[in-house]
Amino acid sequence: MTTAALWIAASLLSAASAVAATSSPPSPVLPASAAQHIINVDVAIVGAGASGAYAAIRLKEDFGKSIAVIDKSSRLGGHVSTFDDLSTGKPFDFGVNSYNDYGPAKDFFNRLGISFSPAPRVALTQRFVDFQTGRPVAYEPSSNQDRKAALQKFLTVTEPYEKFLLPGYWNFPQPRDIPEDLFLPFAQFVNKYNISACANQVFEVTGMGVGDFQNSLTMYVLSAFNQPMIRTFLGNGTIFTPNSRRNIEVYEKIQARLGSDLLLGSTVVQSERANNGHSLWVENGTTGRYTLVKAKKLLIAIQPTKQNMEPFNLDRTEKAVFDKLEQSVVHCGIVTHPSLPIDVSIVNIPAAGAPANYMALPKPNFNARFDYMGGNSTNWRVLMVGKKDLNKDKAQGIANKNFEDMVKRGTLSSGGPTNLEIKAWSEHGAVNMHASAREIRNGFIQRQYALQGHKGTWWTGGAFSHQFQAVLWAFDDVLITKMLA
Ligand SMILES: Cc1cc2nc3c(=O)[nH]c(=O)nc-3n(C[C@H](O)[C@H](O)[C@H](O)COP(=O)(O)OP(=O)(O)OC[C@H]3O[C@@H](n4cnc5c(N)ncnc54)[C@H](O)[C@@H]3O)c2cc1C
Ligand SMILES: *[C@@H]1O[C@H](CO)[C@@H](O)[C@H](O)[C@H]1NC(C)=O
Ligand SMILES: *[C@@H]1O[C@H](CO)[C@@H](O)[C@H](O)[C@H]1NC(C)=O
Ligand SMILES: *[C@@H]1O[C@H](CO)[C@@H](O)[C@H](O)[C@H]1NC(C)=O
Ligand SMILES: *[C@@H]1O[C@H](CO)[C@@H](O)[C@H](O)[C@H]1NC(C)=O
Repeated sequence: MTTAALWIAASLLSAASAVAATSSPPSPVLPASAAQHIINVDVAIVGAGASGAYAAIRLKEDFGKSIAVIDKSSRLGGHVSTFDDLSTGKPFDFGVNSYNDYGPAKDFFNRLGISFSPAPRVALTQRFVDFQTGRPVAYEPSSNQDRKAALQKFLTVTEPYEKFLLPGYWNFPQPRDIPEDLFLPFAQFVNKYNISACANQVFEVTGMGVGDFQNSLTMYVLSAFNQPMIRTFLGNGTIFTPNSRRNIEVYEKIQARLGSDLLLGSTVVQSERANNGHSLWVENGTTGRYTLVKAKKLLIAIQPTKQNMEPFNLDRTEKAVFDKLEQSVVHCGIVTHPSLPIDVSIVNIPAAGAPANYMALPKPNFNARFDYMGGNSTNWRVLMVGKKDLNKDKAQGIANKNFEDMVKRGTLSSGGPTNLEIKAWSEHGAVNMHASAREIRNGFIQRQYALQGHKGTWWTGGAFSHQFQAVLWAFDDVLITKMLA
């Protein structure tokens, strides 16, 4: 780093602490001249995960907009994690599992020239273990018949609300008109409708991402396991993956099409935003050099956590929304150890789940499972869900502790190294950002959606819609129409 760059970094730091102390917007500390390049575009997009990458393609190719896409990662695709395993020569997806046939998903695959087919399933035998102790649990899953009946009930009860929730909360009712069911903590909802026979499936497929499943509002469980998903599990709907079985192919194709519109390995460190235009100081993470991106419009497609929002100097209206959001955190990994059983999924079920208490489920921080990944590999997937301070060390610590306890109790055979070998790991960060029932009754959703276009800034991503790629693509389609109106 040059002396000048050091100085700039130091003054940025002090500016950041000044913001924290006074919460008044700081004047920019980086002058325009700090930038090596200046780029002028119609739309700057921050974040190139599911929502940002799709919006970029549409804005560029369908609306002829000039764009600049900024992502801190060296690749596109956010939660998609494809592990190209050298030992088997096969790919293993350990983040995003598949794409739902919802909204524009299939058309988008066709457009990118990606052939696809129903997601293959690895047939696994389930073993139930309480990961708190490492001891087996005599748990009896609900019968297929009961589970289907419960799922059908879940669908019938929630289908009338679909128009409020999908593909985003554009038509969400005013506070006094919100159906009470949407506010029920999910455990109460399950009791009310006697649908516990499907609770375990809802949890294990995607519902665990909400964190505290029992107490999560039903509307947020529905954002993690929505009506199209319920239909799919009832046999009406498909989930698919590229025929390459590499989910990342979608984003590799997008990356190739966006080419020099991408600023990867880069973050926004400072901004000036206004209705008629924005300046973003974008730092190259490798060189520490700045590019000044000047944009007529700004589309933010990263998780609106406190840390992520710092460079954007949110105003009072914006803070009043984002300060209310809570989140859970997810990590996924591929681990291996000679004691882990082939063709088995070791599922974390608290002892209280025996024999058939389907709402007894692990609470954060937890590892949901060790799933054998198939393909003649020695790969097992772990899926960690936690509170917002669950960092990588803690998450790996939990996986190792779960494993050691199972060995100690004789649930798994002993021998071999003490610890799991970690072959791949991805830190998914904040997911399922949500507000409390109280805030939603106070008009949170309406205030959140009123931010669209405020200060010439538009918002997409999981915090504004659902935790599904295809839903976010459909959400973007609506958003772009509004943005360009
Ligand atoms: C483990 C897991 C499995 C999932 N499985 C599925 C599935 O099978 N099917 C499905 O449809 N959905 C799945 N989802 C949900 C889906 O992945 C998310 O809903 C979706 O990715 C959210 O898209 P997004 O654009 O909001 O954020 P992301 O896809 O997370 O994209 C955010 C992007 O912003 C970048 N970024 C973050 N912070 C900054 C910053 N400060 N500056 C610059 N760039 C930044 C990140 O690098 C990332 O590329 C899964 C999610 C997880 C966590
Ligand atoms: C609740 O559902 C179960 C099946 O999961 C069924 O056996 C039971 O009779 C139902 N109870 C009531 C009160 O409907
Ligand atoms: C399948 O779901 C669609 C809604 O996506 C619905 O219109 C249709 O009736 C359903 N079909 C069956 C057989 O339930
Ligand atoms: C960041 O700098 C490296 C090294 O010069 C360069 O290869 C890369 O393209 C730069 N990234 C961007 C987004 O400009
Ligand atoms: C696993 O390996 C065996 C023998 O090497 C082979 O017959 C089989 O097709 C392989 N299975 C998969 C899923 O690759």
